[in-house]
Amino acid sequence: MAERVAIIMAAGVSKRMTTQLPKVLHEVCGRAMLAYVLDACREVGVVRIYAVVGFGSEQVKQQFAKETDIVWVQQDEQLGTAHAILCCKQHLKDFEGETLVLCGDGPLVRAETLSTLIGKHEIEQAAATLATAVLDDPRGYGRIIRDRYGNIQGIVEDTDCNREQLAINEINPSYYLFHNQILFEAVEQVKPDNVKQEYYLTDALSRIIATGHKVVAVTAVRPEEAMGVNSRRELSVASKIMQQRIQKKLMENGVTIVDPDNTWIDARAQIGQDTVIEPFTYIHGEVKIGRGCRIGPFAYLRHGTVLKNDVVLGVYTEVKNSTLADGVRARHHSFIGDTTVGRNVNVGAGSITANFNGQNINQTSIGDNCYIGSGAVLIAPLVIKDGTHINAGTVVTQESVNRLRQRD
Ligand code: UD1
Ligand code: CA
Repeated sequence: MAERVAIIMAAGVSKRMTTQLPKVLHEVCGRAMLAYVLDACREVGVVRIYAVVGFGSEQVKQQFAKETDIVWVQQDEQLGTAHAILCCKQHLKDFEGETLVLCGDGPLVRAETLSTLIGKHEIEQAAATLATAVLDDPRGYGRIIRDRYGNIQGIVEDTDCNREQLAINEINPSYYLFHNQILFEAVEQVKPDNVKQEYYLTDALSRIIATGHKVVAVTAVRPEEAMGVNSRRELSVASKIMQQRIQKKLMENGVTIVDPDNTWIDARAQIGQDTVIEPFTYIHGEVKIGRGCRIGPFAYLRHGTVLKNDVVLGVYTEVKNSTLADGVRARHHSFIGDTTVGRNVNVGAGSITANFNGQNINQTSIGDNCYIGSGAVLIAPLVIKDGTHINAGTVVTQESVNRLRQRD
């Protein structure tokens, strides 16, 4: 089996997003679009990933700095997708294996589809293979041109299509696998003779076909997976689809989501069996929830929240960067931030941790079996020992709990 690398094209300025942020850093369910594409490549055993970056490249590189299988390739001027590939020439000119090519703005790509693409490529011993999708509304995408025997003849970009071609429903989602040497031979010959005057990778494919190499197109991409995100509206559509995938997986693992349409769960969240997520719950960031918990309605869990088992969080409860041990209950209107809460603690309605004094964020620690009455304000930094009873309406400082201890 040939060694396989990937090129992810992610240099575009993205005029249609109207943004200062590089497009591939825009988030889908809490993760940058590019992160999903990288993961899909890794899942199918790609050994190295060449990420072509340009607009905002420093920002992109910084965000993925820890990921050592990425080779960053700079494309200063975005002259088109074929030009993006050409920028990798210095790294790949002698590479004899296969090159997977994907777009950084296609976060819905699934590893299963890439496996189908790779499988087809191997069986057919093709020089290039692409996966296609059939869409009800193909507007904006490159159209797949086949001859009457079904063989692919080329791809025509939306802006270059004649009326007949515009009616074709089979489109190019930009999932390709190439014999690396054949790819580079072809991209070097591409000319920018099209409406946009760009160097098109799709033209390289037509060239490969014209030279007599075997090119195969497999209709393997689900319509909902084909989408490239070019605008804020498409970003929201992609997020919705991703959200459905996240929730489906959680439900398969034994999580109850009472109203999927009115629940939002970050891609990085982990949730244990028999936990129930009530409507209007919003989970953002790396959040870990154990088994048998009941969350919401209207709960807001933020980055760094760890809930052990059988935790109950009710209406308007916000938790951030905190660990809540087994059996903690905070049923109504609470904020718990930068806090560790011990086992079986009851946090009364409207009680909050005051974690920010205007300058610093401070920690709170609440021991096991404490009772925090309603409307308490716990002013951090604060350590409350096991079994402490805090009366309703108390403003708690470290001094006051120490005094309380002495009295006991
Ligand atoms: C491209 C395809 C089109 C396909 C669609 C699928 C071409 C010519 N067209 O069109 O057939 O249906 O994707 O979503 O390939 N990029 C660079 N450098 C460049 C230009 C683009 O890195 O010089 C990157 C972009 O950042 C983006 C990707 O390549 O991630 C695709 O570019 P984009 O301009 O979005 O192409 P589309 O018009 O969507
Ligand atoms: Ca695109």
